[in-house]
Formats: sequence, C-alpha cells, structure tokens
Amino acid sequence: MSTMIDHIDKSRLPRHIAIIMDGNGRWAKEKGEDRLFGHFHGVESVRNIVEGCAELGVEYLTLYAFSTENWDRPEYEVVGLMELLVNTIRKEVESLNKNNIRLHVIGDMSMLPDYARAELNEALEITSENTGLNLIMALSYSGRWELLNAVKNIAYEVKQGRLSVEAIDQDTLQRYLCTSGFPDPELMIRTSGEYRISNFLLYQLAYAELYFTQVRWPDFRKENLYEAIFDYQNRERRFGKTSEQVVS
Ligand code: IPE
Ligand code: IPE
Ligand code: MG
Repeated sequence: MSTMIDHIDKSRLPRHIAIIMDGNGRWAKEKGEDRLFGHFHGVESVRNIVEGCAELGVEYLTLYAFSTENWDRPEYEVVGLMELLVNTIRKEVESLNKNNIRLHVIGDMSMLPDYARAELNEALEITSENTGLNLIMALSYSGRWELLNAVKNIAYEVKQGRLSVEAIDQDTLQRYLCTSGFPDPELMIRTSGEYRISNFLLYQLAYAELYFTQVRWPDFRKENLYEAIFDYQNRERRFGKTSEQVVS
C-alpha cells in the first residue's frame, strides 16, 4: 500500500502540531445519530493521531477539545462531553504511560466540574515524568481568555513591585501564557471544512502554517495527518522576509 508517510521528510518535522478537532456533531447527524455519538467516535481519532505523532517523533501535540464558548452548548451535550473526557482519561492513562507520553492541560480549569478536575490532575501527576510526546489538551480554553489572564497577572506583578513596565518584553508575555515552555506550533490543522481559528492559540499561531481539510474529525486518521505534514513541508515559511533571503 502506498502511504503518504514515505513522502515525509523526517528531518524536517514540525516540532509542534496544533489541531482544532471539529465536525463531530455533523458527522453524527449525517448518520442520523445524536451529536454525542460523534464525540464518542472522535475519541478513536484522538487515539490514532496521538499514536501517529508519537511514532513520527513530533514533540508537542495540542488538541482543542473544548472552548470557553462551548460551555454555552445545550446542557446535555456539555455534561456528555465532560463524562466522555473523564472516562477517556481514566481509560487511557496507562497507555499514555506505556508510550512515554506526558499530558498537559491548558485552559480555565476553574470552570470544570470538581470530578473532572480531580481526574485530570491525577493524570497530569501520573504522566509527569514521561519524556516522549507532550500531549497538550486545550480544555475550557480560548485565546482571549488566556491573553486576558496573562495581562491581569502581569499587571499584578507590576503592582506588587516585582516587575517593571520597562522590563516587559515578548519573553515576559510568553511566560504568562498557558503555553509557557512550549514552542509555538508550526502547523495548525482544522478538520470539517471550517476556515476559522475560533479563539484557538491566538498569540501562538502568529506564524503557523494553517491546513484545512473537509474531513470530519471522527474520520481523521494518521494518513490524513501525514498529508497535512507533507503539505506543510512543501511551503516556504518566510517570517516577513523575501523568498531570496529565506533560500540563501
Ligand atoms: C468538535 O465538534 C468538538 C467540540 C467542539 C467539542 P463539534 O461538536 O463542533 O461538531 P460540529 O462542528 O457541530 O459538526
Ligand atoms: C472549536 O470548534 C472548538 C473545538 C474544536 C473544541 P467549534 O465548533 O466550537 O467552533 P465554531 O463555533 O464552529 O467556530
Ligand atoms: Mg464545530
């Protein structure tokens, strides 16, 4: 079988891939099923893509699982998603450990129900020594929430006299983001044919290559991931410079 993986240059992998996992609801509706059925099947894609990234040697994978705006969905869907989250974490922790994967969470954890926060904290602790793939779950996350939070914390430090306004630079700001310590994603994938950012990593995506696919998240598999990486590797990243400057 021919596979895209043979076309990927393993020496030029993105260190950090970020994914907006979208289209679960429509995938389910198209099958005449309830939206939660789509979320349930989305978990299989998460497993497959985490495995794919770990096999390739990608260092960071950020998955947008739940936005701050998603709290406004019908209650049964929010509750269903929280239960799915907790059950999945409980089931997968062992295999994360076996595969040397370290779990991280970014987002407003104070919004999560207590039982979900407790389960997550346990999983963070259990995987904290792992040195392979860093799996970053964006939960109750939004870029605007993150930036607001950073601004408040920086202002507080200034007020306390621990930081001077003049000393604030890009590094300072980055330290106050939830992603402090992670490199910016080089590649951002969004599934399901929507062409927007939806409040994901607004600061960190400044120079990310964006890749959009029609494939709904529950159908997204390693082969689709390889295709996205291949596409990424055929782009010229200029960071504001000219093509001639970049090539030389
Ligand atoms: C993404 O799928 C999962 C979450 C946002 C939790 P959606 O639930 O947004 O599915 P669509 O976009 O309605 O099809
Ligand atoms: C973005 O998807 C959030 C997640 C995938 C978790 P949404 O489905 O919530 O985004 P919009 O509403 O289509 O922009
Ligand atoms: Mg959606």
